[in-house]
Amino acid sequence: MNDVLYIGVNDHHLDLFEGQYAVPKGMSYNSYVISDEKIAVMDTVDAHFTSVWLSNLKKALGGRKPDYLVVQHMEPDHSAGIMLFAKEYPEATLVATAQAFGMMKKYFGEDFASRRLVVKEKDSLTLGSRKLVFYSAPMVHWPEVMMSYEESEGILFSADAFGKFGALDENEPWIDEARRYYIGIVGKYGVQVQSILKKLSALEIREICPLHGPVLKEDLSYYLNLYQIWSSYSPEEKGVAIFYTSVYGHTEEASLALEAELKRLGCESVTLYDLARSDLAKAVADAFRYDRIVLATTTYNGDVFPFMSHFIHALTERGFQGRTVALMENGSWAPVAAKRMRALLEGCKNLSFTETVVTIHASLDENSQKAVLQLAKELL
Ligand code: FEO
Repeated sequence: MNDVLYIGVNDHHLDLFEGQYAVPKGMSYNSYVISDEKIAVMDTVDAHFTSVWLSNLKKALGGRKPDYLVVQHMEPDHSAGIMLFAKEYPEATLVATAQAFGMMKKYFGEDFASRRLVVKEKDSLTLGSRKLVFYSAPMVHWPEVMMSYEESEGILFSADAFGKFGALDENEPWIDEARRYYIGIVGKYGVQVQSILKKLSALEIREICPLHGPVLKEDLSYYLNLYQIWSSYSPEEKGVAIFYTSVYGHTEEASLALEAELKRLGCESVTLYDLARSDLAKAVADAFRYDRIVLATTTYNGDVFPFMSHFIHALTERGFQGRTVALMENGSWAPVAAKRMRALLEGCKNLSFTETVVTIHASLDENSQKAVLQLAKELL
């Protein structure tokens, strides 16, 4: 037998991935077996599925014993089965970076000193006709991460990279949930993603096996190009994304008026989010997706309304940059939200702010309506 088999699992019970990302279509934790003269198992799965995974592994092994467990990433959604594997297969060697073994000690009180192979950049592991070459990928998405390239067939085991939310038995396009996953989880580490993409550009990749989401086999330049765009913080599309919060509907009314005017003027794409009632991760992903954003909010306790400050924080901690930003504020007696939002965005690189700032005093009046129309023109 000389094959690569999938032994991962689908999770349809999880509500929040990593404790924060809604996953209405579940999640997959992928794991693979590479069978050659020697057998390597690539990662494990989440704690709730280790016995199913072990049973998948046994079936895939067809009576043979694994020689190696390659641990590419120590986050518990992939590493929870390590101890179980180690007990079940005491003769197998664990393969990982030095940092990953350090993390095993922290998670399991055990770093497998007597049965481990510590690997670093470009070290290789020959399995027979197949050979794995390892590439360190720090902060994609933890510091200990490595990817593994199987040379004979050009298969990249890409750890978390190129993954998406959603179980494998759900039928949905890759891009939206891959974007939400990438921006949410790895968005802060664009520089590190660029660095691994540069290393990967020297390889002939014919298949990508990520730790979440489907195996990618066709048109790989599509996925690699999107990762190039996302990690360089370039806008993926031309369009305006409007994000608002509204207490009594007046800021919402202004946001809807702006949306209508942008559409009337023929804007390429206009997206609208009520931040109090939207999936935060999706809103954040769309802020990175488009080249122009509008932030519209109420002044609250002399500051910015909570959902908006939370949203802006989610942008800045992920390195939001290089976009055009427009601000709309509301305040019944002392509007300061625009000034405060601008201060919250101060550390972001290469933002350009529109000249027009819309100030609404409680509800839209002639002046603020005119300002909304002016802003729409300026955004185009
Ligand atoms: Fe899927 Fe960073 O773990």
